[in-house]
Amino acid sequence: MDWGMKNRFSRLFDRESGRAVWLAIDHGYFLGPVSKLENPTRTIKPLLPFTDALMLTRGVLRNCVDAGMDIPFILRVSGGNSIVGPALSNEDIQTSMEEAIRLNASAVAISIYIGTEHEHQTLLALGKLVDEAQRYGIPVLAVTAVGKELEKRDARYLSLCCRIAAELGASVVKTYYCDNFEKVVKSCPVPVVVAGGPKLDTELDALKLAYDAIKDGAKGVDMGRNIWQSPKAVDMIKAIRSVVHNGVSVKEAGKLLK
Ligand code: 5RP
Repeated sequence: MDWGMKNRFSRLFDRESGRAVWLAIDHGYFLGPVSKLENPTRTIKPLLPFTDALMLTRGVLRNCVDAGMDIPFILRVSGGNSIVGPALSNEDIQTSMEEAIRLNASAVAISIYIGTEHEHQTLLALGKLVDEAQRYGIPVLAVTAVGKELEKRDARYLSLCCRIAAELGASVVKTYYCDNFEKVVKSCPVPVVVAGGPKLDTELDALKLAYDAIKDGAKGVDMGRNIWQSPKAVDMIKAIRSVVHNGVSVKEAGKLLK
C-alpha cells in the first residue's frame, strides 16, 4: 500500500484499539429526509466527539458540516436510485474522484447489489472506482446492499458479496451482521465493518449486534439508525464505543444508557 493510501486508511481506525465506530448519515441519498435525520447538522453535532469517521454525501457535507471538523469522512459516491423508484439496485457512481479529492475525503463508498438485475452494473462501477481511487491513494468502502430484501442477509449470501467486493479491490467492506458471521469475516481478505440496519426494538439489541460482530471478527461498525434514531443517541454512541473499542459486555455497556 502506498503511503497516502495507508495514511488515509489508518485515520479511519482508532489508534489504540485498531477498530472503528463510523457514523453513517448517508441515508438521504435514496431515502430523503429519514426520521431523525431531517436536520443533519442538529443530529450529528452532539455525536461527532464520539465518532471515528462520518459516512455521508457531498451535499450534506457541504451544507451541514463545519469545514473545521477534524474527523475523517467517507464520501458516498454511488447513487442515482430512490426508495420510490423502480429499482433500488439501479445505482452508479454519481460523485467524481476529483470531487472526493477536492473535499478531502479519507475514503469513498459505493454500494453493490449482488444477485439483482443491476449486479453487473454495480460491480463494474466498483472496479472503475477502485481503478481511479488507486491512482490517488483513496481507500474504497464497498457496501453489500440488499435494498428492501432484508431477508437476504444470511452468511452464505453475505460471504459471497464480501468476497466479491474484496476481489474487485475494495479496501474495506460494509455488510450486515448475521448468524455464522465468522464465516463472512474469515472468507473476506479485507476488513469488514457492520451496518446496524433498520432500528432494532431496543438499544440493548443494537449493542448485542455490535458485540457479536466484534467477537466474530468485525473491525468495527458503520452504524446509523440504531444510533441517531435512539432517544438516547449520545449515550448510545458512547455505549457502542465501549463495546467496539474496549470489549465491554452488553450488560456493562447498557449501564451507559441513562
Ligand atoms: C445502506 C447504507 C446506509 O445508508 C447506511 O450506511 C446504513 O446504516 P444503518 O443501516 O446502520 O442505518 O450504506 O446501504
